[in-house]
Amino acid sequence: MSKNIGEIRALLKKYNQEHLLNGYDKLDEAKKKQLLEQIESIDFNLVNSLYESTKKEVKHATQEVTPIDYVDKYKLNDKYKYYENIGKKAIKQGKLAAVTMAGGQGTRLGYDGPKGTYDIGLDSHKSLFELLCDSLKEEGKKYGVTIPWFIMTSRENNDKTIEFFEKHKYFGYQKDKNIFFFIQGELPMMDTEGKILIGEDGLIKLAADGHGGIYEALVKSKMVDKMKQLGVEWVFIGGVDNCLVRMVDPVLMGLAIDRDVTVACKSVVKANPKENVGVFCKKNGKPNVIEYSEITEEMAEATDKNGELLYGESHILCNLFNIDAIERMGANPLPYHLAYKKAKYIDKDGNLVVPTSPNAYKFEAFLFDAFGEVDDMAVLRVKREEEFAPVKNSDSVGVDCPKTARELYKRLHNM
Ligand code: UTP
Repeated sequence: MSKNIGEIRALLKKYNQEHLLNGYDKLDEAKKKQLLEQIESIDFNLVNSLYESTKKEVKHATQEVTPIDYVDKYKLNDKYKYYENIGKKAIKQGKLAAVTMAGGQGTRLGYDGPKGTYDIGLDSHKSLFELLCDSLKEEGKKYGVTIPWFIMTSRENNDKTIEFFEKHKYFGYQKDKNIFFFIQGELPMMDTEGKILIGEDGLIKLAADGHGGIYEALVKSKMVDKMKQLGVEWVFIGGVDNCLVRMVDPVLMGLAIDRDVTVACKSVVKANPKENVGVFCKKNGKPNVIEYSEITEEMAEATDKNGELLYGESHILCNLFNIDAIERMGANPLPYHLAYKKAKYIDKDGNLVVPTSPNAYKFEAFLFDAFGEVDDMAVLRVKREEEFAPVKNSDSVGVDCPKTARELYKRLHNM
């Protein structure tokens, strides 16, 4: 810590955030130190600009949206084996690592714990982490390698995640040898007046900065360096909540290598034009994802000469990156998107406020906002029933929930 308390007060005054020290005198020494460190680490100019962005409708420069090319994995014919062989060779040479993003809060599922520790109700009672690990181990065996596994947590769930892995002896993986954990970045939450919130613990209320924080977190935590030491050149990045995620796919890898692209993504065809999913596209000629809220009805329903949706390739958070692309993406800040959430906080008089409706802004970066960094990417359409069974909601919602994921998992594994 380089600033004294006087300097910190002056800093807060400048940015109109003096209330952050209201409860300071009541904190113990360790927390006092922590709070001051937190304040020092905040980029107040960024916080201010984020707040300003909540007041006005962000006007994105009009971008020309066009369809993106994709290939269907199951219509590759002879090319299937060709790509597969290229990919297999690279995997055998130890060039692939897997990253699981497990820093999300899982608010929709409403489960009290890291989502990766969730039991989807199979007879084995395996957690999502274990299901993912099973598939990594099985695939690794095929190629005679151990696929290094990197897990992104948040400050909020990191200890519980590691405790869980400890308890399960890392499912046969070895900590710091072939399984690594790193914590994603955070941003302060703020109220509708732009005041940063203090949480129940007397410290600044921080929230994970979205799955788009992955690139910066991989670089800052030096996981990218670690990967390089291990000889990794390609990194599959996926979510923790898709129990069918196929992290080791030689066809995807072969396609990326053969096409000489630095990013290759999997898609599943949209269930129907109105499905609420983001779809791959090009914006101003660069790869991107257009969210369902952004797409016009006309575009959503447009078809090509074969009757296929022009914007029908859903983004399922199954993306393969060349390690250099990750470094490039980690060097440039991504835009933040705004979410309005319920957040408990301590008010200026020291009272705990438990809101019953959203009261606070949270800022998140989206992984796919970095896609525009590359000139081209490959999109590989895979089968939904083989690769996409997300656990997002509670069973009462009925879609993308433990029940649907469990059924899909069982069907694919003939259980
Ligand atoms: P979602 O966007 O579905 O968010 O994350 P979530 O946190 O799991 O669930 P809700 O929206 O609160 O209900 C997709 C993937 O990205 C990861 C999640 O862990 C999940 O694997 N993620 C999301 C992060 O790692 N960090 C984040 O800040 C956000």
